[in-house]
Amino acid sequence: MKMRLLLSLILLCSSESFALNWALGPFERADSVNPLITPRPESTFFCPILQKEVHWECDHTFNPAAVVKDGKVYLLYRAEDDSGTEIGMHTSRLGLAQSRDGLHFRRLSTPVVFPSHDTQYANEWPGGCEDPRIVEKEDGTYVMMYTQWNRQIALLSVATSKDLISWEKHGYAFEKAQNGSFQRRFCKSGSIICKVDKDRLIATKIQGKYWMYWGEGNIYAATSDDLLSWEPVINSTGELQAILSPRPGKFDSDFPEAGPPAVCTNKGIVFLYNGKNSHMSGDLNVPPGAYSAGQALFDLQDPIKLLARMDEPFFKPERPYEKSGQYKDGTVFIEGLVHFQDKWLLYYGTADSAIGVAVARDL
Ligand SMILES: *[C@@H]1O[C@H](CO)[C@@H](O)[C@H](O)[C@H]1NC(C)=O
Ligand SMILES: *[C@@H]1O[C@H](CO)[C@@H](O)[C@H](O)[C@H]1NC(C)=O
Repeated sequence: MKMRLLLSLILLCSSESFALNWALGPFERADSVNPLITPRPESTFFCPILQKEVHWECDHTFNPAAVVKDGKVYLLYRAEDDSGTEIGMHTSRLGLAQSRDGLHFRRLSTPVVFPSHDTQYANEWPGGCEDPRIVEKEDGTYVMMYTQWNRQIALLSVATSKDLISWEKHGYAFEKAQNGSFQRRFCKSGSIICKVDKDRLIATKIQGKYWMYWGEGNIYAATSDDLLSWEPVINSTGELQAILSPRPGKFDSDFPEAGPPAVCTNKGIVFLYNGKNSHMSGDLNVPPGAYSAGQALFDLQDPIKLLARMDEPFFKPERPYEKSGQYKDGTVFIEGLVHFQDKWLLYYGTADSAIGVAVARDL
């Protein structure tokens, strides 16, 4: 009898850990360097719209994409100037930083993606270009999903580059969806499904299509043939198919929002995402309104089939600069994930103000 009890206890414990053996991590903060990018008031750039020098990264630097190229880690990070008077009302541009060790970064003095008098002016001015995620195509082209913000509507959009410096904007990701009949809707946060090839995260086709998880509120899915034009996944009642929804009492009780590119492992598609905690019915171990981070596992053959999801966040605001900043309720907003020198490096925005990194050994 005792033996049996012991045996079932062991089984219970091992099935508990088995339940999470698919997740990346554990991640540890690199406290010796964090926050590794902070605002730099001295940087100036000639804004082609305002026709004057602006201090483009003087207020906040946060929410970065990350990618490994030629043995270095590159971050494309969102930088806010001081043009606004309240949160969300500054102009955002994307700066570029590079590092040999993934921890210490050097930056360009001017942004590489910014609103201009180009084809995307109406979508990007005056709010700007926000919250990028980057993956690579098989042929080495970099594909960035980012948010266009004109202070009326946020649109999930695509840009491509060969060198991370010069970017071609392709506009709203769903412009051609449903034969052009898909309504413009507030949307952001695109996480393209990738395979890991040494230190490259390469967009990979599943069932003949590229896939992306996207959105905040609910997380949805979309497919594409070329990574530029995307088709949302619709369910049998003709509505967007939600693949992750808010859960009362959990860290994502207010809403989940897509994180960095999702990665295929031998266990399934591992999707790291952000969860905003509810003020009313949230996780009591996370401050109300705070963003922490979770992971979900989807089926490798059927990317909208959820296999497992963390009940507790694996990463949450703990340091003073994570607990409060421009965003007062606290944020570790994960957006950049690279596989670099046998480790996973996870880059995140701290309270919409600065950038941190957490590191995990690749098991
Ligand atoms: C788009 O048009 C094609 C050709 O007319 C049609 O076969 C297809 O079902 C349409 N797709 C949608 C989502 O309406
Ligand atoms: C389709 O999606 C909507 C919104 O996510 C949901 O309310 C509805 O129940 C879904 N229908 C089916 C048949 O799954």
